[in-house]
Amino acid sequence: MCGIVGILGTKPVALDLVDALRRLEYRGYDSAGIATVENGRLGRRRAEGKLRNLEHRLVEEPLKGHVGIGHTRWATHGRPTERNAHPHMSPRVSVVHNGIIENFRELREALTAKGHVFETETDTEAVVHLITHEMDKGLGPVDAVKATLKQLEGAFALAIIFAGQDNLMMAARLGSPLVIGHGEGEMYLGSDAIALAPFTDTVTYLEEGDFAVLSHNGAQVFDKSGAPVERNAVKSQANALLVDKGNHRHFMAKEIHEQPEVISHTLAHYLDMADGTVRIPDVGIDLATIPRVTISACGTAYYAGLVGKYWIERFARVPVEIDIASELRYREAPLPPGGLAIFVSQSGETADTLATLRYCKENGQRIASVVNVRTSTIARESDVVLPTLAGPEIGVASTKAFTCQLTALACFALALGRARGAIDEATERALVKELMEVPRQIANQLTDESQYEALAHQLMKSRDVLYLGRGQSYPLAMEGALKLKEISYLHAEGYAAGELKHGPIALIDEIVPVIVVAPVDALFDKTVSNMQEVAARGGQIVMISNADENSAGCQLAAHIAMPTAHDFTNPIVYAVPIQLIAYHTAVQMGTDVDQPRNLAKSVTVE
Ligand code: AGP
Repeated sequence: MCGIVGILGTKPVALDLVDALRRLEYRGYDSAGIATVENGRLGRRRAEGKLRNLEHRLVEEPLKGHVGIGHTRWATHGRPTERNAHPHMSPRVSVVHNGIIENFRELREALTAKGHVFETETDTEAVVHLITHEMDKGLGPVDAVKATLKQLEGAFALAIIFAGQDNLMMAARLGSPLVIGHGEGEMYLGSDAIALAPFTDTVTYLEEGDFAVLSHNGAQVFDKSGAPVERNAVKSQANALLVDKGNHRHFMAKEIHEQPEVISHTLAHYLDMADGTVRIPDVGIDLATIPRVTISACGTAYYAGLVGKYWIERFARVPVEIDIASELRYREAPLPPGGLAIFVSQSGETADTLATLRYCKENGQRIASVVNVRTSTIARESDVVLPTLAGPEIGVASTKAFTCQLTALACFALALGRARGAIDEATERALVKELMEVPRQIANQLTDESQYEALAHQLMKSRDVLYLGRGQSYPLAMEGALKLKEISYLHAEGYAAGELKHGPIALIDEIVPVIVVAPVDALFDKTVSNMQEVAARGGQIVMISNADENSAGCQLAAHIAMPTAHDFTNPIVYAVPIQLIAYHTAVQMGTDVDQPRNLAKSVTVE
């Protein structure tokens, strides 16, 4: 997952390219670079690490030119060094790429045999030499790119500029998103519309296999067969203001605190607040007759889907199969004709999730997606979109998107239950009333975080942390572990509390904190037994519960007091403490909370 941009401009483009890249850093930030055409020659500046390093480089060595491309990288092939940073170039052509060229080794061998000298470890450099080779054979730039595209296997979004061409930029898309922006005498390219928002809100989404030839007065688009094709220009909803942190230290903190508001927005989309019932748009699918639901997603979105499984089975009485996207599509799981497959994704661009969506569609499933970006590829390939109204989520660690995914899934589960007569109207109204309490219950938790700062001071000394939960708190335990490890780099594992005695209890000693998600519900007493098993072995227990601390019947290292919510909505309410534990631990450990090492916000490679 990398971010690419391109500007075919009428004024110097270097700083605008950097501005666009800043809006794509969520896609990766191992290195960054730009290239331009200046007086007919290709120039390039690159830097390892964050975008600010490239900005410093451009202050030292400015780059002129009215045509340019830029790239922010999450390394797939080749270490995150300046040498491997994009753009890659020859004297004739420069390329930025998002995706993976799967046959790059064969291409590299063949081109090396023809005398081409490779300087980097990247797959992308093969594209540069292929285009150069085709031009050296006498093809013009456009035909050279067309000939090159036919030889590439894998996934790519490409932006390409050429020496001597200040009115030409080319684009190609297969498996990775790419958007054309239409300006006044200028044209743009970006991995998403957010990158282009400062320049234009009129965009064209390239489709799979498309390539495009851009000039100052527009774009010619061709489909994968090479035939000219019309792709509509639409108005982008992307926010032109670069999202800022407000008065928070990190985007993650801001987004945790936005949850009461954005959960309210999401509820308003699905609930008839006056009537107190669920009102989802006509999904065009007969919910009463679907034989089974399949849910698939990655990471935090998967944990939201797992909670959704508990809700759908409990309130709609529909069997639910769930698996992480990178597994489901490879195990040839039988999919019932007419089944409903639900994909959960904040970005709507996660490659594993998108590939599994396509697999399920090919296997006769109706497709619904719970997404935060309504113009995303996953949304555009779904029969039904169930939006989360979380707003742009910049922090790599998903927080408000997670609770909005839960909110949307909770509403959908009730709608499904009503459509199938599994719950009556009185039950629906009662549960909707509980959902409407959630924003307040979350807001009340965000007024004083001092207990989390104190707990973090202890946790940061740990080597391993265990999270436990039962029932619909089990996915919360796994999400808590993911949050902690992905931003503090501490090892953590989430377990079903009932599973502890089947092995993991061997890990318990005085230095392993055990964080227990334990709302008072039908399984609370069993969770208390598990806590006592831990305490008997000297484990340090942090109980997150609306029960009082004496209910644990054992010594607690800490007790996070929670509001009493309905067991239906507990997973949404209990997301906040596990987010704050991770956040404050990471802050005290001094890690990069918003852009943790090795990660990216949207993983658009498999
Ligand atoms: C969550 O904190 C992580 N950033 C990651 O697990 C993320 O949820 C996962 O990559 C899925 O992303 P998506 O929701 O955009 O598909």
